[in-house]
Amino acid sequence: MRCRKCGQKAVINMRQHKLALCCEHFLQWVPEQTERFIQKYKMFARDERVLLAVSGGKDSLALWDILLRLGFAADGLYIELGIDGDMQYGQRSQACARKFADAHGAHLITVDVHRKYGATIPELAQLTRRGKDKPCSVCGVSKRYIMNYVAREGGYAVLLTGHNLDDEAAVLFQNTLHWQTGYLARQAPVLPATDAGFVRKVKPLCRFYERETAAYALLRGIDYLYAECPFSVGANTIYYKELLGRLEAERPGSKLQFYLSFLQAREDGYFAGAKDDEGLRSCERCGQPTTAPGSCAFCRMWAAVRERKRESRGGSENPVVTQACGR
Ligand code: AMP
Ligand code: FES
Ligand code: ZN
Ligand code: ZN
Repeated sequence: MRCRKCGQKAVINMRQHKLALCCEHFLQWVPEQTERFIQKYKMFARDERVLLAVSGGKDSLALWDILLRLGFAADGLYIELGIDGDMQYGQRSQACARKFADAHGAHLITVDVHRKYGATIPELAQLTRRGKDKPCSVCGVSKRYIMNYVAREGGYAVLLTGHNLDDEAAVLFQNTLHWQTGYLARQAPVLPATDAGFVRKVKPLCRFYERETAAYALLRGIDYLYAECPFSVGANTIYYKELLGRLEAERPGSKLQFYLSFLQAREDGYFAGAKDDEGLRSCERCGQPTTAPGSCAFCRMWAAVRERKRESRGGSENPVVTQACGR
């Protein structure tokens, strides 16, 4: 297989684009495409302050690398969740994020959930009914909350995540299977900021296959954490990724077509009536946006933790909640 641009030996063949490229041209092609998507979907402008959520995995570190090569002064945000176990997932992912930031002279903000709020994600899962069987649910609520909180407090115009096409197609498949029109309405490369206080959220890698972001990270020599979160074993999205992977193997381009057709339908207004950001208001404790009456899900979660801790201490007050609100 030869590179379409120079005829040298290709390192990757992207069947969905009928495009094979050598290392040099692939490493040029990825940032070019990313910049094209940033402009096409009007994600952000050069003079805006951008914050990238960095997990230490290949996608977000590849995206950081691409942004810096494109000349965007993106800052990083790493959230230490306290998920360690045998393979020290948290420590190793933090080390990858830190190493990248130091090597590139980039600014990395770190929020340690245990230090700031009083419990790790596995502890939080144990202490709340919501997360008892599913730590991923309390983890997702916490990550979304902290990302928005830090972006807002830091005066960033936009928050970026490293979601790739495989992530997006799997979520889309799940939402379609259950016909979650509210979620479908909110699945997009760009979610605009809301008056109630959500910052703009964008996914510049949403049109890249996972194998492309992995190839980019490897060829750029980025040291990233290969391991998945130990709690992701058996997750629905992994199952849907496998199903879509089988479809893709037989029909190259299916995943991309599935996602792009959805975006077209969305643009044509098919989900316009199903907005789920209506009724957004400010949480009475922390001021972050929520659709719930009273406190937001994050504050309610920590209130439940405080309650459980108070019960186990026989009534003494615990400072967790005031910290949870970041005040
Ligand atoms: P995941 O939900 O683990 O597939 O991650 C999707 C995206 O969320 C990543 O590409 C990152 O941008 C962001 N992310 C996930 N975990 C973290 C974390 N611990 N700290 C900061 N950002 C994260
Ligand atoms: Fe949150 Fe796995 S990363 S539970
Ligand atoms: Zn070439
Ligand atoms: Zn709140």
